Amino acid sequence: MLSDKSRPVIEATLPLVGSRIGAITPNFYSRLFAAHPELLDGLFSRSNQRSGDQQQALAGSIATFATHLVNHPGTLPETVLSRIAHRHASLGITEPQYQVVYEHLFAAIAEDLAEVITPEIAEAWTEVYWLMADALIKLEKGLYAAQANSKMWTPWKVAAKTAAGAGSLTFTLEPADDTPVTPALPASTSASRSSFRTASARSGSTPFPGTPAPAGPSPPSSTTAARSPRSCTAR
Ligand code: HEM
Repeated sequence: MLSDKSRPVIEATLPLVGSRIGAITPNFYSRLFAAHPELLDGLFSRSNQRSGDQQQALAGSIATFATHLVNHPGTLPETVLSRIAHRHASLGITEPQYQVVYEHLFAAIAEDLAEVITPEIAEAWTEVYWLMADALIKLEKGLYAAQANSKMWTPWKVAAKTAAGAGSLTFTLEPADDTPVTPALPASTSASRSSFRTASARSGSTPFPGTPAPAGPSPPSSTTAARSPRSCTAR
């Protein structure tokens, strides 16, 4: 729950912070990826980074969370938190990474609001960040504990490919080894990384019309509703 000290500060600064998300976000990601380039190649999807809306999801959701704390004291936006936690758990986000995100996000906020920010404002928003982060970390711990195995990535193979419209194929995947598969829940998402080992990919041509052949394993890019066997569509 938001403290009595922070509540009026958040109420007063929400419109300003909300209106600056678009400027804070690119600064945050350039700081984050400069300090941790591995996150861009192993975790965040490059195509999502090119989309402004998706880029703003993280910082924007903190402003939305703050709005909820102000308007519905004593409660948390459970559905939103659950959706984010499932997405994070599908990507293997870890607790120490929350400190990394905090540092770069708050450096970007401090720079953008340099002329108006005070220690009270920074403290109140830090409280909001960690209320949200702690709620997500707790949910993600529960999701990791419920997994049928302790591995982040397990090998799956293509069981079937079917045409799904112009330039699209639907892949049906099944486990490629004996690692126990976590039963899917309605809210579950899964992340996939793929490498193409077809003759055409090896020779450098494109595996599908209009799709560049990746040089190696891709960063996690697609999420699918988790079913077993799983299917996803490639364009
Ligand atoms: C309080 C802190 C955080 C908040 C509020 C937050 C919020 C979000 C939101 C709203 C999404 C989009 C979810 C959706 O697709 O429905 C998201 C996705 C994601 N988050 Fe977080 N997040 C936080 C911390 C982190 C941390 C610590 C990491 C790891 C470095 C991380 C990595 C990601 C990644 C990789 C995605 C997928 C985006 C993509 O595909 O490019 N997040 N997060």
